[in-house]
Amino acid sequence: MALLPILHFPDPRLHTRAKPIMVVDAGIRKLAADMAETMYAAPGIGLAATQVDVHQRLLVLDISEDKSQLQVFINPEILSRSGECEGEEGCLSVPGIYEMVKRSERVQVRALDLEGKRFEVDAEGLLAVCLQHEIDHLDGKVFVEYLSRLKLSRLKARLAKQARITV
Ligand code: NI
Repeated sequence: MALLPILHFPDPRLHTRAKPIMVVDAGIRKLAADMAETMYAAPGIGLAATQVDVHQRLLVLDISEDKSQLQVFINPEILSRSGECEGEEGCLSVPGIYEMVKRSERVQVRALDLEGKRFEVDAEGLLAVCLQHEIDHLDGKVFVEYLSRLKLSRLKARLAKQARITV
């Protein structure tokens, strides 16, 4: 396994729309394992392939307390949504930034597992939010883009300043 470098907003590669995975093979299983290792090391509760500059529709997440329940979603699709909730989100691609985001409270998601078998989940709460956040990444969208234009431009200015200090 290997740790993968994570792209940071506003890297334009984060706006790439990921392509569906045609065959779930050893290469995809290796990518999922590397992404899981990268997510746990960060540490984070979810990671989309887009964030490691691989533009295929795969995401990993683990919302358990003891980090023992890895879930892998290949070609995830939201079949239905209901309700509304608002919560603070963060992202490994936007370190140190937490903002309120409105999401659907419940989502029904269909995906393939690591064996290429189709499954469905009825997600609510943190799992539902996490799935929507990661599927957004696969569609080229980062959560801060839900902010108002003013807030987003302030955030970009702040990140640019941070980058200057770090570099
Ligand atoms: Ni994220």
